[in-house]
Amino acid sequence: MKIGVLTGGGDCPGLNAVIRSVVRKGVQEYGFEFVGLRDGWLGALRGTVMPLDIAAVRGILPRGGTILGSSRTNPLKHEDGLRRVQDTLAANGVDALIVIGGEDTLGAATELNRQGVRLVGVPKTIDNDVAGTDYTFGFDTAVGIATEAIDRLHTTAESHMRTLVVEVMGRHSGWIALHAGIAGGANAILVPERPFDVDQVCAWVKNRFKIHYAPIVVAAEGAVPKEGQMILKDRSLDEYGHVRLSGIGEWLAQEIEGRTGTEARTTVLGHVQRGGTPSAFDRWLATRFGLHAVDAVRDGAFGTMVALRGTDIVRVPLDDTRGRIKVVDPSLYDEFEVFFG
Ligand code: F6P
Repeated sequence: MKIGVLTGGGDCPGLNAVIRSVVRKGVQEYGFEFVGLRDGWLGALRGTVMPLDIAAVRGILPRGGTILGSSRTNPLKHEDGLRRVQDTLAANGVDALIVIGGEDTLGAATELNRQGVRLVGVPKTIDNDVAGTDYTFGFDTAVGIATEAIDRLHTTAESHMRTLVVEVMGRHSGWIALHAGIAGGANAILVPERPFDVDQVCAWVKNRFKIHYAPIVVAAEGAVPKEGQMILKDRSLDEYGHVRLSGIGEWLAQEIEGRTGTEARTTVLGHVQRGGTPSAFDRWLATRFGLHAVDAVRDGAFGTMVALRGTDIVRVPLDDTRGRIKVVDPSLYDEFEVFFG
């Protein structure tokens, strides 16, 4: 059997660990052959492939990014998308695909599978918002990076007695903001799931100054004020209809300065959260996902995605996750309110 592997959407630490694990088990245990499709679904449309054997995956376990490249290409938005994908698979003798992606890439995979493409999905994203799995790899690394940044910001905030707003990634979900904010001892955490009251944030800030501590406010990029709109970087849409976010941190710092008369600055962590070597946990999870994805292909379990449930890896029908996002539960967020202000 010959398997094509692709990585789509925003990259995240651990993608290479999946690729390595898939190839190692597939070649060594089952005698499968592999080919890499370059740059996500773009390679499937264009027919750009690369060899993927044991030699190609040697040494990539701790490397961030993806040796296959990635893109936000949506094959279904291109003319003859399905036929072009099928042509690429046929031209390279590919029997099945392993698709490593987030909600968008796996959404396209779900549709292509419905139309006859044999594939198995592997969930990834630093945002941890793919429905059907307890965790995605990449998230733990991103939380570690954001937590370290918050730790560092505490000391400089205290030296200058000013508010520091930290903007982290999280388009639809506040997982990174919540985990890093709690781990880093933030004084306010703002998530997309819970529109925030600017007056309340300013009250928390003032309260913090009163007891001679400098406030740290962690905001997910998709956080929105109760009265207002999501702040966009620009209005251009990607092929999945997403706008570019970022700006909430800067906006909030200005509001805090204006409303409290105290100094505030913003740090936007951006792609630093996605780059570099994966944490041990992400390497472990990515490796297990890879091993189970190859098993799913061997078993002909097409149209499924491997997922983490507790400590088990299970198979979830891709259809069940379609159009769903895993968001922060309000009761989980409420658990931490005692730390705000
Ligand atoms: O895909 C997850 C994500 O990290 C989002 O949180 C963020 O909005 C987006 O990627 C930004 O990605 P890019 O700059 O690559 O478009």
